[in-house]
Amino acid sequence: METTLTIGAVAKRSGVAASALRFYEERGLIRSERNGSAHRRFVRSTLRRIAFIVFAQKVGLTLEEIGAELAKLPDGRTPTKSDWHKLSSGWAHRIDERIGELQRLKEGLADCIGCGCLSMRQCKLVNPADKAASKGAGPRYWLGDKQPK
Ligand code: FES
Repeated sequence: METTLTIGAVAKRSGVAASALRFYEERGLIRSERNGSAHRRFVRSTLRRIAFIVFAQKVGLTLEEIGAELAKLPDGRTPTKSDWHKLSSGWAHRIDERIGELQRLKEGLADCIGCGCLSMRQCKLVNPADKAASKGAGPRYWLGDKQPK
């Protein structure tokens, strides 16, 4: 029988507020049992689900997407390493995309991002007359369009 934890203990260990845990439960992302005095008890492996939820949001997944991913895990038993592996391989490309976005963000901080402001000397070189606007709205070079060489 797996150890169970109170909502307070889960909140303390996961770093997620009890109100957010109740919200995740309402959305069906995590589940608790009620003990004799109707208090929520979470199986210990819920901590991994919560960690997954928190980091999946950092990668930009919505709660709906996270719910759909978590729904792939076996119901009623603690997910194994291969269960988690199957899950993570499904959205590895999402992580790569996010890494690419963050890399461009880092590189673009001191460079022209093709946003149309033409406020830096660099803009005149790589975005003359706001040429980037022809590719669409937003900071085109941050969004992945290549700067002209
Ligand atoms: S940074 Fe805005 S157009 Fe170059």
